[in-house]
Amino acid sequence: MINRYTIFGQPVAHSLSPAIHHLFGELTQRRVQYTRTEATAENFDQKVRDWRNEGGRGCNVTAPFKEQAFTLCDRVNDNAARAGAVNTIEMHRDGSLVGHNTDGIGLLTDLQANKHLALEGKRILVLGAGGAARGVLAPLLNAQPTQVHIANRTPERAAQLSALFADLGDTHSSDYNSLANAGCFDLIINATSMGFDNDSPPIPGTILSANTFAYDMMYKRATTPFLKWCIEQGVQQHCDGFGMLVEQAADAFLVWEGVRPKTRKVYLATNDILNSV
Ligand code: ATR
Repeated sequence: MINRYTIFGQPVAHSLSPAIHHLFGELTQRRVQYTRTEATAENFDQKVRDWRNEGGRGCNVTAPFKEQAFTLCDRVNDNAARAGAVNTIEMHRDGSLVGHNTDGIGLLTDLQANKHLALEGKRILVLGAGGAARGVLAPLLNAQPTQVHIANRTPERAAQLSALFADLGDTHSSDYNSLANAGCFDLIINATSMGFDNDSPPIPGTILSANTFAYDMMYKRATTPFLKWCIEQGVQQHCDGFGMLVEQAADAFLVWEGVRPKTRKVYLATNDILNSV
């Protein structure tokens, strides 16, 4: 029997998740089939239920449906509850939909285990206040940075998130212009969806120092617009979100299949994965 999974998103045609999960299947000797499914805000809930009714074992959810998925699920685990966003749904035999969020743990694994970055005592800036930002704030704050500043085009959304996570550490918020007075940061994470439009956030260069690490949660074969901007400003340490994508996928696979694939072997196949779309 093949266990069937899909990823819901808009757009989703360029998702690398099918190639990653098929490789996980080979590495763990599980028979899995993983597809992409386009949805709209109007039909997302029904499409997820249809997937379950047709025998799907689970699904991933990407932008812009992570918060909608949280509302749709019958139950959510602690990470998803804290995030208010779901990127992985487990479909139980009784028909219930159980929501998880593996984005935060995926980012932390990539930063700490793969990139060997220590977060304790660091000043962190998160750009964006949507579902992607929500998913990573709790794990970031749990890593004991001195401060997490959330900046967003719509500052009210950043202020809401800052208040929501204030019990976990020192959180601040602002719009992008006010960052000019915020000093420089040790780690800057782009959690906006701006790269979709080939644009980078209109942020001041004063937030960067020679030691700043720039992390773009977005991934692309070419350098992302955000990282291009950082490199132009002199940033030397940077990476895109490919590692986070692989690590969050491994934790989703663990939820569904009960085994976490060894991601090191997946990085060896990076080119094959990138060429899969
Ligand atoms: P996701 O699940 O990827 O986070 P989302 O919830 O739609 O998707 O959030 C998108 C994020 O990217 C938000 O922070 C959004 O800013 P606003 O809250 O002000 O809308 C940000 N974003 C998207 N397009 C943008 C643009 N062109 N300029 C600035 N910010 C943008």
